Amino acid sequence: MRLPNDSKVGRLFIRTFGCQMNRYDSERLVEILGKHQWELVEDYRQADLIFINTCTVRDKAEQKAFSYLGRLKPLKRSRPDLVVALGGCVAQQHGEELLRRLPHLDLVVGTHSIREVPAMIARYETTGERQASVGFSYDFGDEVDGRSLASRPEVSAYVTIMRGCDNFCTYCIVPIVRGREVSRPSKEIIREVESLVERGVRAVTLLGQNVNSYGLRVTGEPDFAGLLRLLARVEGLLRIRFTTSHPKDLSSSLMHCFADLEPLCPHIHLPVQSGSDPILQLMKRGYTRAHYLQQVRRLRAIREDVAISSDMIVGFPGEGEDDFQQTLSLMEEVSFESIFSFKYSDRPQTAASRLGGKVPEEVKLRRLQTLQSLQERLTMERNKAQVGEISQVLVEGPSQAGGSQLSGRTPHNRVVNFLGTPQLVGEELPVLITAAHAHSLEGVVCVKESSSLHAVKERSWCGK
Ligand code: SAH
Ligand code: SF4
Ligand code: F3S
Repeated sequence: MRLPNDSKVGRLFIRTFGCQMNRYDSERLVEILGKHQWELVEDYRQADLIFINTCTVRDKAEQKAFSYLGRLKPLKRSRPDLVVALGGCVAQQHGEELLRRLPHLDLVVGTHSIREVPAMIARYETTGERQASVGFSYDFGDEVDGRSLASRPEVSAYVTIMRGCDNFCTYCIVPIVRGREVSRPSKEIIREVESLVERGVRAVTLLGQNVNSYGLRVTGEPDFAGLLRLLARVEGLLRIRFTTSHPKDLSSSLMHCFADLEPLCPHIHLPVQSGSDPILQLMKRGYTRAHYLQQVRRLRAIREDVAISSDMIVGFPGEGEDDFQQTLSLMEEVSFESIFSFKYSDRPQTAASRLGGKVPEEVKLRRLQTLQSLQERLTMERNKAQVGEISQVLVEGPSQAGGSQLSGRTPHNRVVNFLGTPQLVGEELPVLITAAHAHSLEGVVCVKESSSLHAVKERSWCGK
């Protein structure tokens, strides 16, 4: 292809795997390339540039990225002018070597190189040389300016507040592929949130691998609780969420934010990973089971109804049946709102990959199934307890179920589906919960009438 110019627009297709960090980076890429005459297309066969944003947190995620890339081979063969780019954590992990291994790949874009993409494309187009950029850079650059181009932001938006991670949990490849922890200047974060709110965003989720350590290493910056207090003052911002919180760094001032700050949603993702002390120690998580449970108790003493979700790993090297039982009993004790659960997966260059006592695949699978059915019960119990309650639901868009169903979230992050018209998107409405399902709730919108709330009986919301 020739570079986009005044008379020609470049067509960009992006496929994103992995966590919110990657989704955020994909959004930034759309905006950065938007400044260079690129527009997004939905069909990859129509694209001049295909960008695959990848994840490598577990082996399966990495394989998924390679198999997607492999499927593009025939297309690239039939259209040599197509530019194929691999971004994200797999790109960072393998770097330039990918160009040697995969002849149909043109660009390798590391996790810190999104801003380089226009220059990489230009160099590739003019020299014909395939490009790789996998250096780490520790400034946040023009992130805000990039974002200000977004024409139609959604009701909720992600905002990165820090990059990288210094924790080096022994199973985790993230610090290796995302680099050292850096906090973004608070002024920039506030400016970005204000600009999003001006354009109709009602809820933001602050992103970082460990938001609890925000600002701790920078003089003159607030800590995370301080940042939340500043953001809570942004007029028009209805909801603030954040992810992820490391239990070892959950401070009491942060806990108090849940009681003090109106827009801060009463939900925290607080990954525990395991309920067994020897395993937590091998994982180098920096807390014990007792400390985690104490943190949960302290948090609930401050904000009784706070919803707590978690990540769990089964089959970490050395995990015996007793350790696993400890995990199950911790789950019962905390009664998590929901969890993400994973079978341990060896990752290159991590300390855990060098540990003995690897757990056989079938044992991991059995444990995963046991753990997931326990959580299904816990979630169902919690969901059922919501029936008959009225929750403030922020309407996010049409429900996946289709029809005239809308979908939104309660402050506790529970998904609620209900009948309604598209004009309600972006509104925060009282919804009476009428039924509980495994992964969502069902409800009817209530309207205010003579200061009392009535559930709307009609099949669709009357709009009054
Ligand atoms: N920074 C976040 C999440 C990072 S990755 C945190 O600290 O919580 C998301 C989740 O993937 C982790 O919480 C962990 O449960 C899981 N995970 C990471 N590495 C893994 C591995 N090697 N095998 C299985 N699960 C893993
Ligand atoms: Fe990985 Fe641990 Fe950092 Fe989370 S805190 S990204 S699990 S090293
Ligand atoms: Fe995956 Fe990278 Fe996120 S490894 S989980 S996309 S930080």
